[in-house]
Amino acid sequence: MSDDALREGEVAADLPAHPDTGVYFIGTIHTPWHRREDCPKRGSPDGPICTIVVDERWRQALTGVAEHPRIQVLYWMHSARRDLVLQTPYSTGRTTGTFALRSPVRPNPIATSVVALIAVEDNTLQVRGLDCLNGTPLLDLKPERGASEQWG
Ligand SMILES: C[S@@+](CC[C@H](N)C(=O)[O-])C[C@H]1O[C@@H](n2cnc3c(N)ncnc32)[C@H](O)[C@@H]1O
Repeated sequence: MSDDALREGEVAADLPAHPDTGVYFIGTIHTPWHRREDCPKRGSPDGPICTIVVDERWRQALTGVAEHPRIQVLYWMHSARRDLVLQTPYSTGRTTGTFALRSPVRPNPIATSVVALIAVEDNTLQVRGLDCLNGTPLLDLKPERGASEQWG
């Protein structure tokens, strides 16, 4: 994707020859959206139910997850280009630094959403509040911490 045409004001970096580390994808997210333009820009608690399938090897790691009404989901926006330092989003038309945006385009395309947990069965979670493409790789799941707990 890095050879996509740049929009006005956009700047791309030369990416390093090799990544510095590896990650383990731990599952796959299933959503109704097959094209980026169809995804919501931000998940909503009254969005559609999406399914997170955790790989069998991590099934036991879900022990206790059902006790948490809200879960933080981290995922890898696998279709995003990774080289832009300045971006001009269609939504604003304003050229802005990558780290001042929640755009999927970033050197490490990690996204996060806090979702409402609807159900857990075996290695499958039903959730509301995602905004990613069908087939997006799952990086991690964590119980949400309220703001007071986070900063207190
Ligand atoms: C603005 S990002 C926000 C992601 C996350 N909620 C966050 O704040 O970190 C959401 C957008 O990323 C794009 N997107 C979703 N899944 C993607 C994927 N797997 N690869 C590339 N782009 C994706 C879609 O255009 C979607 O509207």
